[in-house]
Amino acid sequence: MDRKNLQQMFALTYLLFFQVVIGADNGHKIELLKKFCSTQGPAGRDGLPGRDGAPGRDGLPGRDGAPGPKGEVGPPGPSGVKGDAGTQRRWKQCFWNHINSDTDNGRVLECPFTKASPNTYLRVVYMGNIRVTGCTNCCMRWFFTFNDSECRAPAAIDAVLYQNINVNFHRSANIEGYCAGVGKGLVRVGLHVGQCRGFGIFNAYTGWNSELLKKFCSTQGPAGRDGLPGRDGAPGRDGLPGRDGAPGPKGEVGPPGPPGVKGDAGTQRRWKQCFWNHINSETDNGRVLECPFTKASPNTYLRVVYMGNIRVTGCTNCCMRWFFTFNDIECRAPAAIDAVLYQNINVNFHRSANIEGYCAGVGKGLVRVGLHVGQCRGFGIFNAYTGWNSVSRIIIEEFEPPVA
Ligand SMILES: *[C@@H]1O[C@H](CO)[C@@H](O)[C@H](O)[C@H]1NC(C)=O
Repeated sequence: MDRKNLQQMFALTYLLFFQVVIGADNGHKIELLKKFCSTQGPAGRDGLPGRDGAPGRDGLPGRDGAPGPKGEVGPPGPSGVKGDAGTQRRWKQCFWNHINSDTDNGRVLECPFTKASPNTYLRVVYMGNIRVTGCTNCCMRWFFTFNDSECRAPAAIDAVLYQNINVNFHRSANIEGYCAGVGKGLVRVGLHVGQCRGFGIFNAYTGWNSELLKKFCSTQGPAGRDGLPGRDGAPGRDGLPGRDGAPGPKGEVGPPGPPGVKGDAGTQRRWKQCFWNHINSETDNGRVLECPFTKASPNTYLRVVYMGNIRVTGCTNCCMRWFFTFNDIECRAPAAIDAVLYQNINVNFHRSANIEGYCAGVGKGLVRVGLHVGQCRGFGIFNAYTGWNSVSRIIIEEFEPPVA
């Protein structure tokens, strides 16, 4: 018998009991019942257990589980941005041993060069020796050609040699300049010799090493036998520092990596050429030329070149000095950039000169690069002359610091 049936059975029994006790007369029977109930009987039996309460609320969430295993490595990211291209140098050197050229009017040397772009400049340098002899008050001129035409953009690249008396001096000469306007492709770079403006043709000589006087003596009767070779001269001074070598070949492409930071731009050339036609400067003590240049960095060097001619005359045992200035101050880091000309007899020779050097310690921004003339240490002021009857130039280039 389950709980519900049991309850029903007790309730029915209770009802039957009251029917029997209350009987026929309701009024008397209530009084009777009252009396009857006022005297307490034994306690009833315990009631039935109450019904179960409602379910409790849900408990708090449990703590997180331990981390799962590490995921697999993802695919490589895209490759980094390509850095700016650095300067690519394209250069060539031709050389000749003892050319001993007697040419007085025409091409002496030729060096073929393949120009990669139509808009670039060509820097050309002749390094060798030149001479005029057998004449007085005479002049000869050496000049570069490009496919047999002289440079016109911006000006000729030349050197002249003048002498008022007949001497036979082979002089080292360095003829240098930058030329634009030369097309792309093969260019025949030539060195020619010919007459100076206002002069005729005289006895010139280029690239001498031996066989001196062969031509010079040919008008003096039959030539004797060649003399014994002379002794070797003293060793020359060290050459100027060479330029940087060409870039090495490109390496193989590596696997793609994560995106890289954009690289610094490669070295960009910053250079300038100022030029003057026939400055014919009589200045003996002061500034002769000035070329303004905007320096991009305070820590770089300036390479400066004067290309032209210089002279001292009207004096014996005399000396004059040409030197570069930067905002009117001579270079001190590391040293002055200068050239001197001394003579023990009074001559009047306009000589090609090439004065070159590197200077540090010059601040960023506009720099007035000047060429001055003045006295040599221990000498006075004499009659100087600069840039006679040809093109003079100042070439400036900003360079990264040198190797240690
Ligand atoms: C220079 O001359 C050569 C022939 O000697 C020619 O092939 C070349 O194209 C010329 N170069 C230019 C830039 O005109």
